[in-house]
Amino acid sequence: MSINESGVELSIDGAVATVLLDRPDVRNAQHPAMWAAIAGFLESLPEEVRVVVVRGAGGTFSAGLDLSLVDPGQTEVEGSLVATLARSDQEVIDLIGEYQRPFVALADPGFISIAVIDGYAIGAGFQMALACDLRIMAEDAWVCMKEPALGLVPDLAGTKPLVEAVGYSRALEICATARKVGAHEAERIGLAQSVVPAAELDATLTGLVASLVAHDATAVRRTQELLAAASSRSLDEQRLAERTAQVERLRAVLGR
Ligand code: CAA
Repeated sequence: MSINESGVELSIDGAVATVLLDRPDVRNAQHPAMWAAIAGFLESLPEEVRVVVVRGAGGTFSAGLDLSLVDPGQTEVEGSLVATLARSDQEVIDLIGEYQRPFVALADPGFISIAVIDGYAIGAGFQMALACDLRIMAEDAWVCMKEPALGLVPDLAGTKPLVEAVGYSRALEICATARKVGAHEAERIGLAQSVVPAAELDATLTGLVASLVAHDATAVRRTQELLAAASSRSLDEQRLAERTAQVERLRAVLGR
Protein backbone atom coordinates (compact mmCIF):
# COMPACT_ATOMS: atom_id res chain seq x y z
CA MET A 1 0.00 0.00 0.00
CA SER A 2 1.31 3.48 -0.82
CA ILE A 3 -0.22 6.95 -0.61
CA ASN A 4 1.29 10.28 -1.54
CA GLU A 5 -0.18 13.39 0.01
CA SER A 6 0.98 16.75 1.30
CA GLY A 7 4.57 16.22 0.17
CA VAL A 8 5.01 12.90 1.92
CA GLU A 9 4.82 9.36 0.57
CA LEU A 10 3.54 6.84 3.08
CA SER A 11 3.82 3.13 2.36
CA ILE A 12 3.66 -0.26 4.00
CA ASP A 13 5.40 -3.40 2.80
CA GLY A 14 4.86 -6.29 5.20
CA ALA A 15 6.53 -5.51 8.53
CA VAL A 16 8.07 -2.25 7.31
CA ALA A 17 6.35 1.12 6.94
CA THR A 18 8.13 3.98 5.20
CA VAL A 19 7.67 7.73 5.59
CA LEU A 20 9.37 9.43 2.65
CA LEU A 21 9.59 13.22 2.97
CA ASP A 22 8.99 14.04 -0.66
CA ARG A 23 9.50 17.72 -1.49
CA PRO A 24 13.00 17.55 -3.00
CA ASP A 25 12.63 20.94 -4.75
CA VAL A 26 12.62 22.62 -1.32
CA ARG A 27 14.89 20.03 0.32
CA ASN A 28 11.95 18.27 1.97
CA ALA A 29 10.98 21.34 3.98
CA GLN A 30 8.15 20.51 6.39
CA HIS A 31 4.71 22.04 6.90
CA PRO A 32 1.63 21.30 9.06
CA ALA A 33 -0.29 19.32 6.40
CA MET A 34 2.71 16.99 6.09
CA TRP A 35 2.81 16.51 9.87
CA ALA A 36 -0.93 15.74 9.95
CA ALA A 37 -0.55 13.14 7.19
CA ILE A 38 2.39 11.47 8.96
CA ALA A 39 0.58 11.48 12.32
CA GLY A 40 -2.58 9.93 10.84
CA PHE A 41 -0.49 7.24 9.16
CA LEU A 42 1.60 6.35 12.22
CA GLU A 43 -1.33 6.40 14.61
CA SER A 44 -3.22 3.79 12.58
CA LEU A 45 -0.45 1.38 11.57
CA PRO A 46 -1.48 -2.28 11.49
CA GLU A 47 -0.15 -4.58 14.21
CA GLU A 48 2.17 -6.43 11.78
CA VAL A 49 4.30 -3.31 11.21
CA ARG A 50 7.45 -3.66 13.30
CA VAL A 51 9.75 -1.05 11.77
CA VAL A 52 9.10 2.48 10.51
CA VAL A 53 11.72 4.01 8.22
CA VAL A 54 11.86 7.80 7.81
CA ARG A 55 13.91 9.27 4.99
CA GLY A 56 13.99 12.12 2.50
CA ALA A 57 13.76 12.20 -1.28
CA GLY A 58 16.53 13.59 -3.48
CA GLY A 59 19.62 13.04 -1.34
CA THR A 60 18.67 15.09 1.72
CA PHE A 61 16.70 14.23 4.84
CA SER A 62 15.02 17.59 5.49
CA ALA A 63 15.89 21.31 5.55
CA GLY A 64 13.44 21.74 8.44
CA LEU A 65 10.44 24.00 8.69
CA ASP A 66 9.27 25.45 5.40
CA LEU A 67 10.55 28.99 5.82
CA SER A 68 7.59 30.44 3.90
CA LEU A 69 5.56 29.68 7.07
CA VAL A 70 7.55 32.21 9.08
CA ASP A 71 7.83 34.80 6.32
CA PRO A 72 5.79 37.92 7.22
CA GLY A 73 5.54 38.60 3.48
CA GLN A 74 3.77 35.28 2.81
CA THR A 75 0.89 35.20 5.32
CA GLU A 76 -1.41 33.75 2.66
CA VAL A 77 0.57 30.46 2.63
CA GLU A 78 -1.47 27.55 4.05
CA GLY A 79 -0.41 27.00 7.66
CA SER A 80 1.39 30.37 7.90
CA LEU A 81 2.69 30.68 11.46
CA VAL A 82 2.71 34.43 11.06
CA ALA A 83 -1.06 34.40 10.41
CA THR A 84 -1.50 31.99 13.33
CA LEU A 85 -0.19 34.60 15.75
CA ALA A 86 -3.47 36.53 15.42
CA ARG A 87 -4.82 33.87 17.81
CA SER A 88 -4.40 33.77 21.61
CA ASP A 89 -1.26 32.30 23.20
CA GLN A 90 -3.24 29.28 24.41
CA GLU A 91 -4.61 28.60 20.93
CA VAL A 92 -1.10 28.71 19.45
CA ILE A 93 0.20 26.42 22.22
CA ASP A 94 -2.59 23.95 21.42
CA LEU A 95 -1.87 24.19 17.70
CA ILE A 96 1.83 23.42 18.20
CA GLY A 97 0.70 20.45 20.31
CA GLU A 98 -1.12 19.22 17.21
CA TYR A 99 2.04 19.77 15.11
CA GLN A 100 4.02 17.67 17.60
CA ARG A 101 1.82 14.59 16.97
CA PRO A 102 4.02 12.81 14.39
CA PHE A 103 7.13 13.47 16.47
CA VAL A 104 5.44 11.76 19.44
CA ALA A 105 4.06 8.94 17.28
CA LEU A 106 7.54 8.08 15.99
CA ALA A 107 8.56 7.23 19.54
CA ASP A 108 5.71 4.73 19.95
CA PRO A 109 7.24 1.54 21.37
CA GLY A 110 4.89 -0.52 19.18
CA PHE A 111 7.51 -0.30 16.42
CA ILE A 112 11.17 0.61 15.99
CA SER A 113 11.64 3.82 14.02
CA ILE A 114 14.79 4.48 12.00
CA ALA A 115 15.84 7.82 10.51
CA VAL A 116 18.03 7.40 7.43
CA ILE A 117 19.94 10.67 7.13
CA ASP A 118 21.72 11.62 3.97
CA GLY A 119 22.61 15.23 3.13
CA TYR A 120 21.38 17.05 6.21
CA ALA A 121 18.67 17.20 8.85
CA ILE A 122 18.10 20.79 9.97
CA GLY A 123 15.74 22.15 12.64
CA ALA A 124 12.43 20.28 12.29
CA GLY A 125 14.36 17.75 10.19
CA PHE A 126 16.81 17.10 13.03
CA GLN A 127 13.89 16.89 15.47
CA MET A 128 12.15 14.34 13.26
CA ALA A 129 15.34 12.27 13.21
CA LEU A 130 15.59 12.63 16.99
CA ALA A 131 12.02 11.37 17.34
CA CYS A 132 13.14 8.08 15.84
CA ASP A 133 14.57 5.26 17.95
CA LEU A 134 17.64 4.84 15.73
CA ARG A 135 19.57 7.01 13.29
CA ILE A 136 21.85 5.86 10.50
CA MET A 137 23.81 8.53 8.64
CA ALA A 138 25.78 8.90 5.44
CA GLU A 139 29.35 9.81 6.36
CA ASP A 140 29.08 13.22 4.68
CA ALA A 141 25.71 14.05 6.28
CA TRP A 142 25.19 16.53 9.11
CA VAL A 143 22.53 17.63 11.55
CA CYS A 144 21.87 21.10 12.93
CA MET A 145 19.48 22.50 15.55
CA LYS A 146 19.03 25.80 13.73
CA GLU A 147 16.12 27.21 15.74
CA PRO A 148 18.10 29.41 18.19
CA ALA A 149 19.88 31.02 15.22
CA LEU A 150 16.44 32.09 13.98
CA GLY A 151 15.43 33.45 17.39
CA LEU A 152 13.27 30.38 18.07
CA VAL A 153 13.41 27.27 20.23
CA PRO A 154 13.24 23.60 19.17
CA ASP A 155 9.55 22.87 19.81
CA LEU A 156 8.81 19.63 17.98
CA ALA A 157 9.56 17.27 20.88
CA GLY A 158 13.27 17.20 20.03
CA THR A 159 14.84 18.59 23.21
CA LYS A 160 14.16 15.51 25.37
CA PRO A 161 15.61 12.85 23.03
CA LEU A 162 18.59 15.13 22.31
CA VAL A 163 19.42 15.46 26.01
CA GLU A 164 18.86 11.74 26.52
CA ALA A 165 21.17 10.90 23.62
CA VAL A 166 24.09 13.24 24.32
CA GLY A 167 23.58 14.66 27.84
CA TYR A 168 22.61 18.18 28.91
CA SER A 169 25.94 19.95 28.35
CA ARG A 170 26.53 18.67 24.82
CA ALA A 171 22.85 19.25 23.93
CA LEU A 172 23.11 22.85 25.15
CA GLU A 173 26.31 23.43 23.19
CA ILE A 174 24.79 21.98 19.99
CA CYS A 175 21.59 24.05 20.31
CA ALA A 176 23.05 27.34 21.55
CA THR A 177 25.69 27.42 18.80
CA ALA A 178 23.30 26.03 16.15
CA ARG A 179 26.38 24.45 14.59
CA LYS A 180 26.52 21.59 12.12
CA VAL A 181 27.27 18.22 13.71
CA GLY A 182 28.90 15.89 11.21
CA ALA A 183 28.13 12.20 10.97
CA HIS A 184 31.30 10.90 12.59
CA GLU A 185 30.88 13.21 15.58
CA ALA A 186 27.18 12.25 15.72
CA GLU A 187 28.18 8.60 15.99
CA ARG A 188 30.84 9.33 18.62
CA ILE A 189 28.45 11.26 20.90
CA GLY A 190 25.59 8.76 20.57
CA LEU A 191 23.34 10.58 18.11
CA ALA A 192 23.86 8.09 15.28
CA GLN A 193 24.03 4.34 15.67
CA SER A 194 25.91 3.81 12.41
CA VAL A 195 27.67 5.89 9.77
CA VAL A 196 28.39 4.54 6.31
CA PRO A 197 29.27 5.89 2.84
CA ALA A 198 26.15 7.34 1.20
CA ALA A 199 26.21 4.58 -1.43
CA GLU A 200 25.88 1.98 1.35
CA LEU A 201 22.89 3.54 3.17
CA ASP A 202 20.30 1.31 1.50
CA ALA A 203 22.22 -1.91 2.10
CA THR A 204 22.89 -0.88 5.71
CA LEU A 205 19.20 -0.16 6.22
CA THR A 206 18.19 -3.50 4.70
CA GLY A 207 20.58 -5.37 6.99
CA LEU A 208 19.46 -3.45 10.07
CA VAL A 209 15.77 -4.02 9.36
CA ALA A 210 16.38 -7.76 8.85
CA SER A 211 18.16 -7.94 12.22
CA LEU A 212 15.43 -5.97 13.99
CA VAL A 213 12.63 -8.26 12.79
CA ALA A 214 14.56 -11.50 13.26
CA HIS A 215 13.25 -12.23 16.75
CA ASP A 216 9.85 -12.70 18.39
CA ALA A 217 7.75 -9.55 17.83
CA THR A 218 6.20 -9.48 21.31
CA ALA A 219 9.51 -10.06 23.08
CA VAL A 220 11.10 -7.20 21.15
CA ARG A 221 8.11 -4.87 21.76
CA ARG A 222 8.03 -5.61 25.52
CA THR A 223 11.80 -5.06 25.72
CA GLN A 224 11.46 -1.78 23.82
CA GLU A 225 8.70 -0.66 26.20
CA LEU A 226 10.97 -1.42 29.18
CA LEU A 227 13.92 0.48 27.72
CA ALA A 228 11.79 3.44 26.59
CA ALA A 229 10.30 3.89 30.06
CA ALA A 230 13.51 3.23 32.03
CA SER A 231 14.70 6.82 32.43
CA SER A 232 11.37 8.02 33.83
CA ARG A 233 11.05 5.24 36.46
CA SER A 234 12.77 4.50 39.75
CA LEU A 235 14.83 1.31 39.94
CA ASP A 236 12.10 -0.36 41.98
CA GLU A 237 9.41 0.64 39.46
CA GLN A 238 11.58 -0.61 36.60
CA ARG A 239 12.31 -3.92 38.35
CA LEU A 240 8.58 -4.43 38.89
CA ALA A 241 7.89 -3.66 35.22
CA GLU A 242 10.56 -6.21 34.19
CA ARG A 243 9.09 -8.92 36.44
CA THR A 244 5.57 -8.24 35.26
CA ALA A 245 6.54 -8.39 31.59
CA GLN A 246 8.57 -11.54 32.17
CA VAL A 247 5.68 -13.49 33.71
CA GLU A 248 3.69 -12.93 30.53
CA ARG A 249 6.71 -13.89 28.40
CA LEU A 250 7.46 -17.05 30.41
CA ARG A 251 3.86 -18.21 30.07
CA ALA A 252 3.90 -17.51 26.33
CA VAL A 253 7.28 -19.16 25.68
CA LEU A 254 6.80 -22.16 27.95
CA GLY A 255 3.08 -22.61 27.37
CA ARG A 256 2.15 -22.74 31.10
N1 CAA B 1 12.01 26.11 3.55
C1 CAA B 1 11.63 26.43 2.30
N2 CAA B 1 12.44 26.32 1.22
C2 CAA B 1 13.66 25.81 1.43
C3 CAA B 1 14.13 25.45 2.69
C4 CAA B 1 13.24 25.61 3.80
N3 CAA B 1 13.57 25.26 5.03
N4 CAA B 1 15.40 25.00 2.59
C5 CAA B 1 15.72 25.09 1.28
N5 CAA B 1 14.68 25.58 0.58
C6 CAA B 1 14.60 25.83 -0.85
C7 CAA B 1 15.46 27.03 -1.26
O1 CAA B 1 14.76 28.24 -1.06
C8 CAA B 1 15.71 26.72 -2.72
O2 CAA B 1 14.58 27.08 -3.45
P1 CAA B 1 14.76 27.72 -4.95
O3 CAA B 1 15.34 26.61 -5.76
O4 CAA B 1 13.38 28.09 -5.35
O5 CAA B 1 15.69 28.88 -4.79
C9 CAA B 1 15.79 25.20 -2.73
O6 CAA B 1 15.18 24.74 -1.54
C10 CAA B 1 17.22 24.71 -2.71
O7 CAA B 1 17.89 25.35 -1.66
P2 CAA B 1 19.41 25.82 -1.78
O8 CAA B 1 19.66 26.34 -3.17
O9 CAA B 1 19.69 26.74 -0.65
O10 CAA B 1 20.15 24.42 -1.63
P3 CAA B 1 21.56 24.13 -0.97
O11 CAA B 1 21.77 22.68 -1.16
O12 CAA B 1 22.60 25.09 -1.46
O13 CAA B 1 21.36 24.47 0.60
C11 CAA B 1 20.28 24.30 2.72
C12 CAA B 1 20.47 23.71 1.32
C13 CAA B 1 21.60 24.24 3.51
C14 CAA B 1 19.25 23.43 3.40
C15 CAA B 1 19.81 25.77 2.66
O14 CAA B 1 18.77 25.85 1.68
C16 CAA B 1 19.26 26.27 3.96
O15 CAA B 1 20.03 26.69 4.81
N6 CAA B 1 17.90 26.25 4.12
C17 CAA B 1 17.22 26.80 5.28
C18 CAA B 1 17.34 25.85 6.49
C19 CAA B 1 16.55 26.39 7.66
O16 CAA B 1 16.87 27.46 8.20
N7 CAA B 1 15.53 25.65 8.09
C20 CAA B 1 14.63 26.01 9.18
C21 CAA B 1 15.25 25.51 10.49
S1 CAA B 1 14.26 25.88 11.92
C22 CAA B 1 13.08 24.66 11.98
O17 CAA B 1 13.05 23.78 11.19
C23 CAA B 1 12.07 24.57 13.07
C24 CAA B 1 11.54 25.84 13.60
O18 CAA B 1 11.90 26.87 13.24
C25 CAA B 1 10.60 25.87 14.69
